[in-house]
Amino acid sequence: MLNVKNDLFLNSVGDLISATNVHHEHTILIVDDEINNLQLLKRIFRGKYKILTASNGLEGLETLKNNINDVSLIVSDHKMPIMEGTKFLEEANHIAPDVIKILLTGFSDIEIITDAVNKCSLFQYILKPFNPEELQEVVKNGIDKFDLASSKSLILKDLKELFYKTIKSIASALDAKDPYTHGHSMRVTLYSIILAKEFNVDENELESIETAGLLHDIGKIAIPQAILCKPGRLTDDEFVVMKSHPVNSEKLISSIKKLHEVSPGVKHHHERWDGRGYPDGLAGEDIPFSARVIAIADTYDAMTSTRSYRKALDHEIAIDEIEKCAGTQFDPVLAKKFVEISPIIKAAKENPEEFYMQYSTLYRELNS
Ligand SMILES: [Fe+2]
Repeated sequence: MLNVKNDLFLNSVGDLISATNVHHEHTILIVDDEINNLQLLKRIFRGKYKILTASNGLEGLETLKNNINDVSLIVSDHKMPIMEGTKFLEEANHIAPDVIKILLTGFSDIEIITDAVNKCSLFQYILKPFNPEELQEVVKNGIDKFDLASSKSLILKDLKELFYKTIKSIASALDAKDPYTHGHSMRVTLYSIILAKEFNVDENELESIETAGLLHDIGKIAIPQAILCKPGRLTDDEFVVMKSHPVNSEKLISSIKKLHEVSPGVKHHHERWDGRGYPDGLAGEDIPFSARVIAIADTYDAMTSTRSYRKALDHEIAIDEIEKCAGTQFDPVLAKKFVEISPIIKAAKENPEEFYMQYSTLYRELNS
């Protein structure tokens, strides 16, 4: 039984990612309070670039914010009322760190220049009065640097996208092995990141939890279909085979360097807070945080999904069960928080696609 909502969920990320790789014409922002200088600068660059102008720093920041995805380079005068050029470029650097910044200034401002180089990642300064050809050359070099940096980050983004899509495909392939677990890895991932975000974990750890969520059951690929999809209770021997999957998951990903930090969350997602879980019988905080998070998300999804041996339980019943098992099966702090945020979890269960876009670190990085 396929779930249309989840199919959309699985496909939409890639589609949205490919829509971001659009080449754009270069736009430069010129900021100068003297109208004659502004006109001169516009004449120098007319026809080569799209030009935006501002007559002071505040206006410049506003223009930059309104055109944040278009501006490649800023040329700013230093001596201006309201806000000096260095201050403007410093602020602009917070808003758009990748945009190339050039300062026009008098020779006597050497200390200001040093300060500007450090504070606003100044690409170059031009002494006034400037030579138009020299300025054109500097701007051209700046645009080349911008292009190089953009293509480098696009390559990194492409690699990350490839990595992510591969992981997602593996997770989907696993879920497809058993029609009853369709979308399970994706939903466990979603619930895990929603829960983890409540605990002020940094972006790296969130990304690691997300990847671990996608791959947590990957070792089930090695489990025979007859055991994986058995409608009745597993025999002791079958259960031994089933219990091998976290270690198999870890073995499968251990050869991939990028996934080393993901391994603990994958290997230990069936440990229990009271130490009665597997594979290592770890207890309490000896169980990695990511594994404690995934354990709750995994159990909630298992309970609220129809399986070959029983029908799905209601959200409320599943939440009651999580609450009951706080301190025995689950980390009590994490379980309490999961119960507290259960309305969000319920909404995410009903609309996984929308919530995934909102909560996923990987998705945001690939679409920024
Ligand atoms: Fe599992």
